Amino acid sequence: MSNDCKKAYITTPIYYVNDVPHIGHAYTTIIADTLARYSRLIGLKTLFLTGTDEHGQKIQEAAKQRGKKPQEYADEISGKFRSLWDEFDISYDVFIRTTDEKHKLGVQKAFETMYKKGDIYKDDYEGFYCVSCETFFTKTQLVDNEFCPDCGKPTSIVKEESYFFKLSKYEQKLLEWYDDKDKCVLPKAKKNEVINFVKQGLNDLSITRTSFDWGVKLPKSINDPKHVMYVWLDALLNYITALGYGSDEKDMDFWPSTVHLVGKDILRFHAIYWPAFLMSLDLALPKHIGAHGWWTRNGEKMSKSKGNVVNPKEVANAYGLDNFRYFLLREVPFGQDGDFSQKALIDRINSDLSNDLGNLLNRIIGMSGKYADYTIDSKDVLKFHEKEIKIAEKTIETLSGYIYDLQLNRYLEELWKILTLANQSIAIYEPWMKMKEEKTDEALAIVALVANLLAKVTLLLSPVMPNTCAKIADSLGFIINPQNYDKLIIQKGLLNTFMIKKTPPLFPKIEKELLTTPSENSLKPESKDKKKDEGVVTIEQFFQTKLKLATILEAEEIPKSDRLLKLKVDLGEEKPRQIIAGIKEYYTPKDLVNTQVCVVSNLKPAKIMGYLSEGMLLAAKDKESLTLIRPEFHKKSGTPIG
Ligand code: MSP
Repeated sequence: MSNDCKKAYITTPIYYVNDVPHIGHAYTTIIADTLARYSRLIGLKTLFLTGTDEHGQKIQEAAKQRGKKPQEYADEISGKFRSLWDEFDISYDVFIRTTDEKHKLGVQKAFETMYKKGDIYKDDYEGFYCVSCETFFTKTQLVDNEFCPDCGKPTSIVKEESYFFKLSKYEQKLLEWYDDKDKCVLPKAKKNEVINFVKQGLNDLSITRTSFDWGVKLPKSINDPKHVMYVWLDALLNYITALGYGSDEKDMDFWPSTVHLVGKDILRFHAIYWPAFLMSLDLALPKHIGAHGWWTRNGEKMSKSKGNVVNPKEVANAYGLDNFRYFLLREVPFGQDGDFSQKALIDRINSDLSNDLGNLLNRIIGMSGKYADYTIDSKDVLKFHEKEIKIAEKTIETLSGYIYDLQLNRYLEELWKILTLANQSIAIYEPWMKMKEEKTDEALAIVALVANLLAKVTLLLSPVMPNTCAKIADSLGFIINPQNYDKLIIQKGLLNTFMIKKTPPLFPKIEKELLTTPSENSLKPESKDKKKDEGVVTIEQFFQTKLKLATILEAEEIPKSDRLLKLKVDLGEEKPRQIIAGIKEYYTPKDLVNTQVCVVSNLKPAKIMGYLSEGMLLAAKDKESLTLIRPEFHKKSGTPIG
């Protein structure tokens, strides 16, 4: 991050609305919030953008699985993100949704501009698509000729007419950019990965789809209504449409962005596609793209199926929001993966926050009350403690560098050196002895020294722990604002007087883990009672499986398969679904058409012999034969069973 133009534009990725917010989303957002708060504190005009990414096949399928319209589903999940950020006091200025009209206009304008420039052409696309990552792959990139190299899920073959963006044209220019702007991608190790990827050669990028319709339509001038935009083109453009690109242009003076915060999994889109799109649009390139690592839990990858996903709200409620923020930023060097455990969080709270920070404030309150009726001034600080003040100033000078390089853990480590200096000063100079020796001036100078050191730390820590720091500042009798930042940090000044207020301890020691969520329990060894219940499901568990009546519309054999039939079934939804069923030995296609069957309708779609299957038929099977389970009377397609 640089402050050369007195403006800062900070962004998070826009989050897919196919999942509720988890620790990964909270992590990116909290880093971005910290940078935005820091920028405001140092006096920059700041715009902080977050939002939701609502188009694409993944969202369309997620909505369908829940029997909802995509817009209705997107509204619901987008609302959850927004209210979590509000609860977390995230200081975003703009919350963008890719279904906003203003955004769609901007995306269409960008498409039109690139098209007119000759950077977009129409051709046929044949390749492999991972819906989960919304990414295209060539056959050679796949694992075992089928699976996505990024997430390991099966890919599907896409063969359709598509518009292409001439990504290959920008290969050389991108390499020049990486070379020219040392810190355009951070950290360095991640930048090198990007460079190596680009050096292997870039293929042109398919940027429209015709096989589904949940996306931004092409501009009217192109007149090709069956195409919708590829979700990553749509999504990346949010960073400029939020500023008014293609509509009112209101905030375009914030461009180029100061920093795009992203997870390492989506760096390639941001560090390759995005700058290439911008070059095509003749817009400036982002100053920094920062890629952070991933959080695991107790050493394991988080996943819904393992039930070990960390719910940020639960953690913040149990341990305190600011403590959680501190932990996330302090525990892991930016760019590296980190492990979440309650033990690690408790250690940070008890040691760094309670011992080093909280105790210092308590001692200042105690000493100032005892020696000076809670009022102290800084008049003798430089006389007795210039050395300590100089050491602290030197440390402070290095801090902005760490922020600029997104090394927030180093930033916090350096701040803690000042707290250590303050705590050590009390131990070394023993103000209580000075009082005994009736050297009151010296005793009060020590208290004023440490109060000033704490005030400086509080200002600089406030972007990370805003609420707690506001309380510490209040207790020391000042407020956190750009004016005091200027006075204490830039001008290296001291506070004239401190009117100390008593405050209850801010970080009571935590003796045991505070969260015992169902997911934690499920990680623990099974209890005896659980063994007894093995194989038994509750009614709630049973109803998690959604069974419905379906009418078979079409049935055909799958070539080269002895077992499989491909069915089109009506489940009372907008479009029929495809189901691949292993019933060919027992039924012919014509036995099936227009009959009704029972279907598991919320089964995760899967690929069977390269065909997408979006459900499962219920059947009873023994060694001799198989029979489908069917209703006694014909009922409306989609009627629930249960
Ligand atoms: N919609 C795209 C981003 C488009 S930006 C133009 C997307 N959304 S996402 O919801 O799937 O992910 C958003 C962010 O969450 C990513 O930066 C990703 O790295 C982060 N995380 C998801 N799981 C994570 C962890 N377990 N740990 C840390 N961050 C992780 O991608």
